[in-house]
Amino acid sequence: MSNTRLLGSSEHPLRVAVIGSGPAGFYVVQQLFDTPDLTVKCDVFERLPTPFGLVRLGVAPDHQKTKSVVKVYHKLATNPDFRFFGGVEYGKDVFLADLQAHYHCIVFTTGAQTDRRMNIPGEDLIGSYAATEFVAWYNGHPDYCDRQFDLTHPVAVIVGVGNVSIDVARILASTTEELQTTDIPDYALRALKNSGIREIYILGRRGPVQAAFTNPEIRELGRMADADVRTFEHELVIDASSQKAADSDAMLQRKLEILQDYATPVKVPKPRRVTLRFLTSPLEIIGDQKGNVRGVRTVRNKLSCDKEGRTHSTQTEQSELIETGLILRSVGYKGKPLPGLPFLDDRGIVPNDQGRVIDPSIDNTIRGIYVSGWIKRGASGVIGTNKSDAKETVANLLADFRQKTILSPQNLDSEDIENLLRNREIRYVSYGEWQKIDRLETEMGVSNHQPRVKITSREEIFKALDSIASAKD
Ligand SMILES: Cc1cc2nc3c(=O)[nH]c(=O)nc-3n(C[C@H](O)[C@H](O)[C@H](O)COP(=O)(O)OP(=O)(O)OC[C@H]3O[C@@H](n4cnc5c(N)ncnc54)[C@H](O)[C@@H]3O)c2cc1C
Ligand SMILES: NC(=O)c1ccc[n+]([C@@H]2O[C@H](COP(=O)([O-])OP(=O)(O)OC[C@H]3O[C@@H](n4cnc5c(N)ncnc54)[C@H](OP(=O)(O)O)[C@@H]3O)[C@@H](O)[C@H]2O)c1
Repeated sequence: MSNTRLLGSSEHPLRVAVIGSGPAGFYVVQQLFDTPDLTVKCDVFERLPTPFGLVRLGVAPDHQKTKSVVKVYHKLATNPDFRFFGGVEYGKDVFLADLQAHYHCIVFTTGAQTDRRMNIPGEDLIGSYAATEFVAWYNGHPDYCDRQFDLTHPVAVIVGVGNVSIDVARILASTTEELQTTDIPDYALRALKNSGIREIYILGRRGPVQAAFTNPEIRELGRMADADVRTFEHELVIDASSQKAADSDAMLQRKLEILQDYATPVKVPKPRRVTLRFLTSPLEIIGDQKGNVRGVRTVRNKLSCDKEGRTHSTQTEQSELIETGLILRSVGYKGKPLPGLPFLDDRGIVPNDQGRVIDPSIDNTIRGIYVSGWIKRGASGVIGTNKSDAKETVANLLADFRQKTILSPQNLDSEDIENLLRNREIRYVSYGEWQKIDRLETEMGVSNHQPRVKITSREEIFKALDSIASAKD
């Protein structure tokens, strides 16, 4: 029944499966829909019942303006050539052979689903966690909404100086008033309201010039109602090569000025404080007899520069102990291997050549299989970075389509994949059903002056859909 000559026409549309519904997934769909003279049907498979990846479940609840990017994704999702299969996990519910039998091209946009480790003693003590878990908890991620974090100790330590560290520190140091008009789940708001944390240390292993956080985020930290930000003058002294880098970079100079301002002691201290430390690495997490975190031993570093001009930290003999009950390592997210695909474990990515997946054992690309977003390039870059990334992947996908080097699926009826899911008794959430959840969450938020009240567990989402359906009967 297939007619290769007309592939991409309205009679014989190109069928593309996208795995993952974060920014990368939606920008891939956008690039495909924007291609002139091409009829393309996009089916997006998402392991969670809700769409939008880290925009819903990573971007901080007090950054609602950033979350409004979903309006763009919503527009794409209401195109008749788009279908959403929420709650369908690649590698558990559907497999590579299923997709190869139904689609001409498969694009994996599964992001970075796990965390990097510090590889120091004591990392698994009770009270030492990945920031990925804490972020997912305060954002109402279905896999983390039942987690509990002990916030009773007056001191918390965050390792790493990226934007995620800044988000986590801001959430820990916010007042209830600052958070209650966001979409933070009620359980997290209650836990943070009762938090005993008064001092938050953020540890950067290198100097201020090498800090990964960006200026708006570090500036925003200094505008909290109940928390001061502090730096130490002696940790802001920079070496010659860092100075050279700063001299030619106006944004870096601005960052240093902001950090310098924080070194001025405040006259009237606020009840909480965030202290940014530089040239400080954790050496060992120390526990008590019950296996709870009691403190972290740190070491002071000095900087050195290699031949390529990259600045490294080396440990000195100077160490100190910070007493704490909570350590959050925020040293980066990491991709997870996908069944049936090659994987580069050290980088946490699927090996690829500008989006075309490569099989390293034959040093060649795998027909019809692509990646985009964090699973393609690693866990870095803001939402918009995924747009240019998707452009590159889709350009290569379309080049392969024109060269006829894509897949030749047997099952081209749009109902085939629905039948497959039904036969496997997989209940999935369509985009129409997500819109009902979205409406319900938004309505529930109105009386609380919140943008929405998130429904956080899978069971609650399906229960809500069932009651909406039975109310209509
Ligand atoms: C805590 C945090 C805060 C951030 N805040 C900002 C910000 O304020 N502004 C900004 O511009 N950028 C921010 N970013 C960066 C931004 O979120 C990322 O650039 C972007 O989300 C990466 O997009 P992605 O689609 O590759 O991954 P993701 O957004 O993670 O999407 C991947 C999707 O794939 C799904 N998936 C994974 N495995 C499977 C599977 N096996 N089967 C089916 N589906 C699967 C996941 O559930 C997820 O929905 C933040 C990042 C983090 C971690
Ligand atoms: N508001 C926003 O726009 C926003 C918010 C959150 C996230 N994001 C984006 O999302 C991406 C991921 O952010 P991220 O904060 O997870 O990662 P990141 O920007 O890569 O920062 C990771 C931090 O961890 C440090 N680190 C790594 N390994 C370490 C170790 N073993 N010991 C001590 N420190 C270590 C790094 O230091 P070194 O530099 O020394 O390696 C760096 O300071 C970034 O692109 C970020 O900008 C954006």
